[in-house]
Amino acid sequence: MGRILLVEDEDSLRDVLSRYLEAQGHTCDHAENGEVGVAKVRDDAEGYDVIISDIEMPKMDGLAFLRRVQPYVESATPFMILTAYDEWKYAMEAIRLGACNFLQKNPFDLAEIHNAVERALELRQIYKLRHDYRAQLEAELREKTREIQATYDGTVIGFAAMIEGKDASTMRHLFRVRELCCLLAREIGVPDKRMRDLELGAMLHDIGKYAIPDNILTKPGSLTDEEWVVMRTHPQLGADFVRRIPFLAGAADVIFCHHERYDGAGYPSRLAGEDIPLSARIFSVVDAFDAITSERCYKKAQPVSVAIAELRRCAGTQFDPGVVEAFERVLPTIEKMSADFDTRFRAELDAMGLGQVEDRGSRRERIQKTA
Ligand SMILES: [Fe+2]
Repeated sequence: MGRILLVEDEDSLRDVLSRYLEAQGHTCDHAENGEVGVAKVRDDAEGYDVIISDIEMPKMDGLAFLRRVQPYVESATPFMILTAYDEWKYAMEAIRLGACNFLQKNPFDLAEIHNAVERALELRQIYKLRHDYRAQLEAELREKTREIQATYDGTVIGFAAMIEGKDASTMRHLFRVRELCCLLAREIGVPDKRMRDLELGAMLHDIGKYAIPDNILTKPGSLTDEEWVVMRTHPQLGADFVRRIPFLAGAADVIFCHHERYDGAGYPSRLAGEDIPLSARIFSVVDAFDAITSERCYKKAQPVSVAIAELRRCAGTQFDPGVVEAFERVLPTIEKMSADFDTRFRAELDAMGLGQVEDRGSRRERIQKTA
């Protein structure tokens, strides 16, 4: 037996039909026009098993009702139309909108109504199975997507740890730079679909150092001119590396251009101004801010005011002045976010099974930053 909503403006027809359906053991709810019908369907938590509606009604006719009610029933409730002989012209439109059957009225054929309701209830079971199956598939797909995303994130963190050293202070720097890059990018209006590439680039900007010989990378003193030539290949090497991995390829812009300068005096391509991808210009400002305000084993953390003064001083030479201005606009938010950054950072490390990572000074910090 089912819960049936009957939408019919003629009281006598509604009474006859609902009495008949209730005599058959169904529960029957009524509405006198489409407007009331929509409200009943919308507010009904249990869900009707079948909806039967007249076509010609005041305020909202049956076709408009069928259209309006779709979002609430998600095609999981069979919808039948009550038609008088001269209303068959509406049939095609009703079918297009998803009606599954037509019931003749004036006069009713009660046997036909009985059979049609039974078929509709069977259809309802099929709809429910299909609906539940789709919901289950969607839930499984979401879970698989989450797992794949976690695997990707773990791979990125793994690459970053491989280059920077598996150390909490370096990881903290990478996570903070990633977070601040996203905040600044949103302020500037970078579309959401580009945000992932920026995050990856922030985490992997120095990945090209994997190919720099240790005698250069870990050299305690200054590099010679020849050694600098080698060191300056790391943006190109890193970009070439990620371009071979489809889910990392979007990070190539930041990796390739993270040592470019706004005035064209950077490397490897001496790009200038807006020829440098916006993501790389955003990264440069955030990376410099975080480097100045963070403690390293070879220096103390500087106050935010010192970092801002440095960004302003280098706006137009090292940094994009527009990006520096945007950074200053989000500074109050950055200062608020920094209060609980460590909680978010530790939670993310724990989620990736890296909760045991300790502050011990990164490989790069231990050998002093050279590039
Ligand atoms: Fe670098």
